[in-house]
Amino acid sequence: MKLMSIAGARPNFMKLAAIASAVQEHNGKTTATDRMIVHRIVHTGQHYDQKMSESFFDDLGIPKPDINLEVGSGSHATQTAEIMKRFEPVLLEEQPDVMLVVGDVNSTIACTLVASKVKYGKSAAGFPPSRKRPIIVHVEAGLRSFDRDMPEEVNRILTDAISDLLFVTEQSGVDNLLREGVAPEKIHFVGNVMIDTLKQHLEKAQRSNIREELQLRTAYGLVTLHRPSNVDTRETLEPLLQCLHDISQDIHLIFPVHPRTRHNMQHFGLLAKLLDNPRITVAEPLGYLDFLNLIQGAALVITDSGGIQEETTVLGVPCITLRHNTERPVTVTEGTNYLIGTDIDKILHTALEILSGRCKKGSIPKFWDGCAGKRIVDILIDHV
Ligand code: UD1
Repeated sequence: MKLMSIAGARPNFMKLAAIASAVQEHNGKTTATDRMIVHRIVHTGQHYDQKMSESFFDDLGIPKPDINLEVGSGSHATQTAEIMKRFEPVLLEEQPDVMLVVGDVNSTIACTLVASKVKYGKSAAGFPPSRKRPIIVHVEAGLRSFDRDMPEEVNRILTDAISDLLFVTEQSGVDNLLREGVAPEKIHFVGNVMIDTLKQHLEKAQRSNIREELQLRTAYGLVTLHRPSNVDTRETLEPLLQCLHDISQDIHLIFPVHPRTRHNMQHFGLLAKLLDNPRITVAEPLGYLDFLNLIQGAALVITDSGGIQEETTVLGVPCITLRHNTERPVTVTEGTNYLIGTDIDKILHTALEILSGRCKKGSIPKFWDGCAGKRIVDILIDHV
């Protein structure tokens, strides 16, 4: 089987790592050549900085991408269209049996759309193709925030609607897909590949010396912010930053700043005050192992990320999510996540409650056990 996996932006790389590792493990155990998987990796180049992309391939031991489309940044339309234009000839040339996309970024929907309409011609060797288009597989399917103002929500709905096999991380994903009329036989509840990667790398992450590098000697909180709805206007960003200043009176904060957020803070004239606060360490985006190390040691995490809600749940670290909805409800109902929104008083109150030890302990959701990648590969082999 020829499998082509797509990754484009930072949160994709952790998911790709688990797939690549499960494929390698499968090939290592298989003697029958017809059950071997040839794995090709396409990087769209949506994220391109060393810190947003390359360091993840190094940290996670992901094979170097076979193809990089180098699309870079742009408006949603430009970025999506550019990926589609550059991906189509690659797909026609490579003719994989299966194309696998992960998550909900623009690269996910762009490549899915191309694969759903492509028609393979003669293969390079002159043989007729074994199928007309690849089987499209979406990993992390079914998640819904029910907020169509989020570009990711649009990407999720559209990707799921035209994928052939849907691999789901939590029960809510199965329920959502069934409600949308997806045939039950397409849906597979396999667990969470992000957690496979976390488990595989936790020991290595514990050896990171990032806490010494940042001179962290006391308890600390960890902050990330990058959602357009939080960081793209001064009206939303300024109060959130003020709230961080307030919380920093009670606990030192580490804030690795996403390029989008840094750009906007600079633009709105909000960066200098943050840099002047000795109780907040402003850092560049961190590599996977360093960041995992910091989550594990944090007294609390404040974030608007999707994946970090899951990682904190598995590590039992309290997480305040600065959003009004989450597409990962199991992190709230079973995990350590508090969905607080952007009300400053509520954020401050919850942070103080957590710091005084009054917080939920949480439990590990079903199938977040490190074996999701293996389940996916087993199903692919059976299916193809
Ligand atoms: C994208 C994803 C989002 C994901 C996030 C993680 C979509 C719609 N959004 O949002 O779901 O949570 O990645 O980071 O796909 N930039 C750099 N270097 C880079 C990449 C980006 O400087 O390597 C800057 C560019 O100025 C760019 C801005 O960051 O304009 C935003 O990047 P973009 O990929 O468009 O969206 P994200 O906000 O990162």
